[in-house]
Amino acid sequence: MSLKVFVTRRLPEAGLAPLREAGLLVEVNAEDEPIGRQALLQRVRGAAALITLMSERVDDELLEVAGPQLRVVANYAVGYDNIDVAACRRNGVVATNTPGVLTGATADMAFALLLAVARRLREGDELVRSGEWTGWQPLQLLGAQVSGATLGIVGLGRIGRAVARRARGFDMTVLYHNRNRDEDAESDLGVRYVSLDELLELSDFVSLHAPLTQETRHMIAAAELRRMKPSAVLINTARGAVVDEADLVEALRDGTIAGAGLDVFEEEPAVHPGLAPLPTVVLAPHLGSATLETRTEMALLCSRAVVDVLAGRQPPNAITA
Ligand code: GLV
Repeated sequence: MSLKVFVTRRLPEAGLAPLREAGLLVEVNAEDEPIGRQALLQRVRGAAALITLMSERVDDELLEVAGPQLRVVANYAVGYDNIDVAACRRNGVVATNTPGVLTGATADMAFALLLAVARRLREGDELVRSGEWTGWQPLQLLGAQVSGATLGIVGLGRIGRAVARRARGFDMTVLYHNRNRDEDAESDLGVRYVSLDELLELSDFVSLHAPLTQETRHMIAAAELRRMKPSAVLINTARGAVVDEADLVEALRDGTIAGAGLDVFEEEPAVHPGLAPLPTVVLAPHLGSATLETRTEMALLCSRAVVDVLAGRQPPNAITA
């Protein structure tokens, strides 16, 4: 009998080809809507492999319900704060994520938000659509200069480094803060290591690229926002909970900082009601990796990891932390 792989949401079909070629029985949640916890617990029973989304918690309960034949959980995301990796290990289940393939798309998105907030694209778009635009004006919708400004990158992993490379094309001065200093990156990318406080004080734009962990939860809250320049803009394409969203709303309302570009939120899909009315904020529905190429590559990485584990091989993207 074929081994069952349960995929919790529809993914680009081409990305599932390795599963079918390996003769696995692929069961996809056909609803194309978030699978609720109860349905998830029903559907994982008897599966040898799962492909999960970041919105699904993989914990002892799920692993136990799935049963001892479960060998691999391939998370369709690079971030894996939804996975209890220690519980997987205890249960003999390999957990994998999707590093590398979404680096470019996510860095592009961080830059898209940065440019959109700096150059007031949302307000400009609304003005043109409203039919009330009366023509070019010397003092209309003046934004922040990106070229030559200072960018602070928090978390210099793959995505942080890709953002730094883009920033060089904009002649920006790039500062970074990371758990560990990375001297190779400093010489390759021309970035300068500073403390988090210095980064917040010196940057015109602060872009977050740290994973969500116990240490980084609410790493940016009221005190950190107060350190930023009143003209500064915060960009978050990492995880919503790295920022205290209520504190951010306050800081934007009272002018502690000038704007924010957010692709991620603390309680997705809920968004703090204070964000939408603010004209200085650009909001995106977690689109960092949302290109067909990237989403297909992510699915391929998950599928290959499943095939590897079920064939007794260690996949290159196994989470070892
Ligand atoms: C998306 O947020 C991811 O972690 O891949």
